Amino acid sequence: MSLLPTTSIANLAGYVGQTVTLAGWVYHKTEKGKLIFIQLRDGSGVIQCVIFKKQVAETTFATAQALTQESSCRITGAVRADARAPGGFELDVETVELVGASLDYPITPKEHGIEFLMEHRQLWVRSARQHALLRVRAEVVAAAQEWLNDQGFVRFDTPLLTATAAEGTSNLFATTYFDLGTAYLAQTGQLYVEAGMMSFGKVYCFGPTFRAEKSKTRRHLTEFWMIEPEVAFATHEDNLQLQEQFVSAIVQRVLERRSAELKTLERDPTMLERCVPPFPRISYDDALALIAAKQGVIEGATPLTWGDDLGAPHEQLIAAQFERPVFVERYPAALKAFYMQPDPQRPAVALCADLLAPEGYGEIIGGSQRIHDLALLEQRLHDHGLQTAAYQWYLDLRRYGTVPHSGFGMGIERVVAWITGTHHIRETIPFPRMLYRIYP
Ligand code: 4AD
Ligand code: MG
Repeated sequence: MSLLPTTSIANLAGYVGQTVTLAGWVYHKTEKGKLIFIQLRDGSGVIQCVIFKKQVAETTFATAQALTQESSCRITGAVRADARAPGGFELDVETVELVGASLDYPITPKEHGIEFLMEHRQLWVRSARQHALLRVRAEVVAAAQEWLNDQGFVRFDTPLLTATAAEGTSNLFATTYFDLGTAYLAQTGQLYVEAGMMSFGKVYCFGPTFRAEKSKTRRHLTEFWMIEPEVAFATHEDNLQLQEQFVSAIVQRVLERRSAELKTLERDPTMLERCVPPFPRISYDDALALIAAKQGVIEGATPLTWGDDLGAPHEQLIAAQFERPVFVERYPAALKAFYMQPDPQRPAVALCADLLAPEGYGEIIGGSQRIHDLALLEQRLHDHGLQTAAYQWYLDLRRYGTVPHSGFGMGIERVVAWITGTHHIRETIPFPRMLYRIYP
């Protein structure tokens, strides 16, 4: 015996006129005398189930009457096409079976504060908006991996427990690793994926990464998911071209396959439709000039001196000049990670770029060409106060058949926030981890 439904709500088109069993949860219920209307959701969609007292057994009507918000149930009935129904179909109910009751469901149609909703995240993920957001997230993840696979990239899984830092030492989560000393949760898979690149040519890693960020902003999580492609023989220029093709392919796929979710989220697709290569580029130097020229336009975007990092307001100001994602390239090398290749013509800047999303969603990608010269890499480790002993395995990649190579990391949550038009990154991951949140 199986409890599975005949089909899912999204798949009803082929069942018009037939009797099917659907299984799901009561999203909403209204009673009008001899009629009960149940909005049943099953994860794939929502359908209105109509229970007419005269047409069902008394016990069935009583069961339906007793159903409360988020009770789980199995409903059997005939599928009827109805142009006015949101999904295009309604169900004329024959039987109703309660599976699991739900008493006093905490999240009601009334407004709840964000803190309350975050405390009830395990239930909040069922709500229409959250459901749509997380559905887009799943699409972004699938699109990113499938696009890379189609381009001949090989997924190369990297460790989450590591002995070394890659993105600075100030935001590491540390733990004691048996007798071997301190281990850190990975800030990135990059250093390891570079080893894979030397084996496969084109690789990517994809997984959770960790930053003990003390910043409490709408863009920072302490645990976020990053996809990191790495390509042998690719230069900085090749890297930017790969990024714009990659991001645009992801956006176009979401537009094609998740338009219903974008509608639920009231996301105007116009800006997203413009997201096709080539993306505009601006150098760090020109960005500083732009910031100086637009002084006072965006609060906090105060003029910078050469060598200063861009803050969120500066990124917002730059992004506002373009209607597509924009690359800010060639930052001062001193601002960036130890592994970035300095420009041979001007070693004070790195062959790197950040990709800024439009509409103030900030940096969605960080990437660079990597140092491939052994002596220079050793020097940079030293400059950053890192112990070369712990990086010998990484230096081996420069000892045995080194090649110029480039790669980047795209933060899934930042991309989902931008594509869905969600103000705060906390809603773009099922269970966000932040400075003040580890529950649920
Ligand atoms: O710029 P980041 O730190 O780059 C790296 O980690 C490189 N190792 C990537 C590489 O070249 N393979 O991070 C890359 C991206 C950012 O652009 C942003 O989208 C995201 O990861 N990110 C965060 N997302 C959410 N919360 C945080 N605290 C994030 N920090 C970075
Ligand atoms: Mg970055």
